[in-house]
Amino acid sequence: MTPTITPTTEAPTKDYRAPLRFWHWGSSLLVSLQLITILFQEVIVDSRSAVPEFQETMAKENIALTVKQARSLTHILSERIWEWHIYFGWALVALFVLRVGLELRGPSELRFSARLLEVARRYRLAPAADKSEAGKVLFTKGTYALFYSFLTVMVITGLLLIYRNDVAFLTSIKHQVEEVHNFTMYLILGFFVVHVVGVVWAELTKDHGLISRMVGGEAPKK
Ligand code: HEM
Ligand code: HEM
Repeated sequence: MTPTITPTTEAPTKDYRAPLRFWHWGSSLLVSLQLITILFQEVIVDSRSAVPEFQETMAKENIALTVKQARSLTHILSERIWEWHIYFGWALVALFVLRVGLELRGPSELRFSARLLEVARRYRLAPAADKSEAGKVLFTKGTYALFYSFLTVMVITGLLLIYRNDVAFLTSIKHQVEEVHNFTMYLILGFFVVHVVGVVWAELTKDHGLISRMVGGEAPKK
């Protein structure tokens, strides 16, 4: 008997096991918290621009602060925010290690690479009429592949930044590492927007229950 290929464009696994769901919501929270620390650091607190305000406030008390003295005070604020960025960073590293562990040792349902290859195979074999739908599924999985690569860059460069003043070699490359870390944030922001819009759109149109499957696990079989 010749084996038949199901012309479906469904992703191979639409149910998400507990470890993957734990990773997903934990990472979403931590990535959001990391973005919030940057929002506070660069926009809301923006300690550098607070230097004149510190000087003016102290001048009212008849204390003349030099720019250098004011900077050392505002520095305390930004250091506090960076401390939180690093705590969240370590938590994100721990979840990253969990995700790599699931990828290497977990069952095939939890392996992203297996799902990506399956979706690519279905796209290749899809009849012309289903090509466009299969292409959308492949695009979605492609954005996840990109996100995993951004996350890898973020985790590696973040760890290098933590130790940048302790190792001479890391000190010599710290500016480049900072730039890569900084730039990758914009890529992650891009993913965030595309992902949330895409998932909500799919939920409201053709894939009802998608978000609850990512919350509660496998959908009840009909
Ligand atoms: C920073 C925030 C987020 C990040 C980094 C993120 C990341 C990811 C990644 C990498 C996947 C693929 C998992 C895999 O197959 O290995 C995924 C899937 C998914 N995410 Fe998110 N996510 C975020 C926020 C959200 C939010 C806010 C929602 C709900 C509104 C959501 C709902 C989903 C759903 C339903 C899937 C499964 C989609 C599918 O099967 O194609 N995510 N997410
Ligand atoms: C989505 C995740 C993350 C985002 C959006 C993010 C964003 C940023 C940005 C924009 C900066 C400023 C870079 C510059 O100086 O131009 C920064 C600095 C830094 N990040 Fe991250 N980061 C993330 C994850 C991580 C992780 C996982 C770690 C640690 C493992 C980490 C550790 C650091 C450190 C140590 C600094 C330097 C702080 C300082 O100047 O004292 N980051 N991050």
